[in-house]
Amino acid sequence: MCGIVGAAAKRNIVPILLEGLQRLEYRGYDSCGVGLLTGDRLQRLRSVARVADLASQIEKKQLVADTGIAHTRWATHGAPVTHNAHPIFSRAEIALVHNGIIENHDELRVELRAQGYVFDTQTDTEVIAHLVHSLYQGSLLEAVRRAVKRLTGAYAIAVVAKREPQRVIGARVGSPLVVGVGEGEHFLASDALALAGTTDRIAYLEEGDVAEISRVGFRVFDAGGREVWRPVKTVQTSGATAELGPYRHFMQKEIFEQPRAVADTLTGIEEISPALFQDPKGKLLGAIDSVLILACGTSYYAGLTAKHWIESLAQLPTQVEIASEYRYRDSVPNPRTLVVVVSQSGETADTLAALKHARSLGQKKTLAICNVASSAMMRATRLKFLTHAGVEIGVASTKAFTTQLVALFLLALTLAKLARKLSRKEERKHLRSLRHLPKALAAALALEPQLISWAGRFAKKEHALFLGRGLHYPIALEGALKLKEISYIHAEAYAAGELKHGPLALVTAAMPVVTVAPNDALIEKLKSNMQEVRARGGELYVLADADTRIAASAGVNVLRLPEHYGLLSPILHVVPLQLLAYHTALARGSDVDKPRNLAKSVTVE
Ligand code: M6R
Repeated sequence: MCGIVGAAAKRNIVPILLEGLQRLEYRGYDSCGVGLLTGDRLQRLRSVARVADLASQIEKKQLVADTGIAHTRWATHGAPVTHNAHPIFSRAEIALVHNGIIENHDELRVELRAQGYVFDTQTDTEVIAHLVHSLYQGSLLEAVRRAVKRLTGAYAIAVVAKREPQRVIGARVGSPLVVGVGEGEHFLASDALALAGTTDRIAYLEEGDVAEISRVGFRVFDAGGREVWRPVKTVQTSGATAELGPYRHFMQKEIFEQPRAVADTLTGIEEISPALFQDPKGKLLGAIDSVLILACGTSYYAGLTAKHWIESLAQLPTQVEIASEYRYRDSVPNPRTLVVVVSQSGETADTLAALKHARSLGQKKTLAICNVASSAMMRATRLKFLTHAGVEIGVASTKAFTTQLVALFLLALTLAKLARKLSRKEERKHLRSLRHLPKALAAALALEPQLISWAGRFAKKEHALFLGRGLHYPIALEGALKLKEISYIHAEAYAAGELKHGPLALVTAAMPVVTVAPNDALIEKLKSNMQEVRARGGELYVLADADTRIAASAGVNVLRLPEHYGLLSPILHVVPLQLLAYHTALARGSDVDKPRNLAKSVTVE
């Protein structure tokens, strides 16, 4: 989703802004731009193409500057066209970039029009630019501090004024913004990764903060207007310079990184203990009577899988909710519930808001399972578990999902151990299976050639159905999500037992039906569901394992994972589904890493 970079330095900051935008590209965007201040000259360049195009425009014009702001835009209000791209100007004196949504933009627009402001864009951002301009009386910092008091919604902004060279003002509510500290130079950015290679010294702005950066330093004012100090931390940004290596796309690279990502997530884990979740004595995890998992998209499907594990191993009632639904519905709060937020980015606006809502209802026992150590979610919960997937660039989440599953399985084991429902012998057995996962994942990845051949057939279809049961129903949901988001094929997933209650009507010879069919307790039931499909002429694509007794025949294609992996089987069965989606998208020629309309980090509601 949108990304911000700002800089004030003694040197030319144009390459730093462009590199920052390139590092933010993975979040997804449809236009980009820079606003540059040299003395009192304010210039802007914008593009509806990629950042590389913007860079070549800048190179042609040989632009240099010591102060500036830059932006990648993911359109919310107003089409992705050049005149809506940021920076947005107010009377060519104020330039502003913005992430998020201003909810009271209509009301402010009416007010500003009455003051004579002319609106050139369809964006909600333009009201902030004019509002700052209308309040400007010689101090940009003061104008921004007054302006943000009038805004409702979630935002991060960076602003420069023609009359105040060498100064950038930032502010945030709901959307992330960090200050980067260098020698005689300071920066603003949506995340620390944007500044990797420039500085690793980062101060995280908090909700409601307004910050001023210049060459010599930075100042921060909190929501109450008091000047405050935000500590400067040295952060790990290695891996930020993600290279494709031998792969064609980041998604493909990330699928193949899963054995390493899972191994890294398990590194140093010798025994099951609440200390894994930063609760050394188990005081919090030992005092709960239920679990509530809040997440979106792929992370939500990880939560659905975990429900099976937690209820079966720890026998604790577990509820899994889509974060954007939970935050707006009346629920029955329970202070003894463990609230778990699951997120790759740790910045998903809906999940953050759901967490805030859960806490406002008195549910204070919170845990984040997240892939970004410095994210807002990791800073907001009492307990934390960092997955070590490494930076995930492809919009379609892959290695983040498998590492989330590992973390959630560890949570299920920990809760079972605290509830005295896990013997030492069982604990050792589960740990052995976890440690063997990287090898088993490598064997699943070796099935790629067969999936390439399936993908060739899927690429010609417009619809697909995914079926699973029990533990593997969430994996069917994840397989359908992967296929639709990158290949644009309409895909739906059903718990296979539901087939005859409606979706069977869709099954014809033109409908491929993917069935996740490991040799678990429900396999015989699933075989009956598969018969129902075959009887209607539907073609089956079956993900079995070595122990599943299903043979290939006319209309029944079987791919066999090497071994049945018991409770951890979902972690293996998702891999062929990721590869199927990837190769189908490739065959259809879609932009695999940056699918249309989607963003990596969904920081607006
Ligand atoms: O960063 P998060 O895990 O909180 O993101 C949640 C979803 O936006 C994300 O999983 C999304 O569904 C992916 N595009 C799925 O591949």
